[in-house]
Amino acid sequence: MKKASGLPSWDPSGSGKTTMMNIIGCMDKPSLGEVILDGTDITKRSRKELTEVRRDKIGLVFQQFHLMNYLTALENVMMAQYYHSMPDEEEAMEALREVGLADRAKHLPNQLSGGEQQRVCIARALINHPALLLADEPTGNLDEKDEYLVMDIFEKLHNAGSSIIVVTHDPEVGDEAERMIVLEHERIAREEKKKRQRPIIAE
Ligand SMILES: Nc1ncnc2c1ncn2[C@@H]1O[C@H](COP(=O)(O)OP(=O)(O)OP(=O)(O)O)[C@@H](O)[C@H]1O
Ligand SMILES: [Mg+2]
Repeated sequence: MKKASGLPSWDPSGSGKTTMMNIIGCMDKPSLGEVILDGTDITKRSRKELTEVRRDKIGLVFQQFHLMNYLTALENVMMAQYYHSMPDEEEAMEALREVGLADRAKHLPNQLSGGEQQRVCIARALINHPALLLADEPTGNLDEKDEYLVMDIFEKLHNAGSSIIVVTHDPEVGDEAERMIVLEHERIAREEKKKRQRPIIAE
């Protein structure tokens, strides 16, 4: 990942980024309008159907990790498998290997660095092979080295065919995007497209 800065310096806190992610991720419904996901309007689906869409199509990565502190990295990934279908240790190890954490599989979250915890979260999010990966400020709690590692994983996933939407305040992360949507005051202020093969970023 290269250094650059193309995003505004103002802090767009409260502009509606998390709300938008929650709606795309089928965790919330808008009071107005349509949300077309994979060709269908998800606002017309029941709560049960939305849970199924989320389980089958979407992977979620959060700034605050949300790992189970009493489970190892491997067990955290297997827990996600349990909710998706059934635990499979070898597949969970493969997911950890993909994010460079095979040697940390037996560690508890508090024995891992912030960047390692976020990579466990990415492994967990990949367990259902999601067509769409949503990451809400995934590098917000990471130092520069770990930010680069996480963005490199996203780039690899994107190049392998995943659609990725990243919310960020960070101009360097934002500049990695192939398409950038800027939110201001809970509305889309503008949109930029670039030719580079990078994840989608919302700011
Ligand atoms: N479920 C909800 N119902 C009504 N209003 C909400 C709901 N969730 C958030 N809001 C409001 O919507 C606005 C946007 O919140 P949101 O959390 O989406 O902002 P954000 O861009 O993610 O901010 P931050 O950068 O601080 O994370 C805020 O004014 C918030 O109080
Ligand atoms: Mg937010």
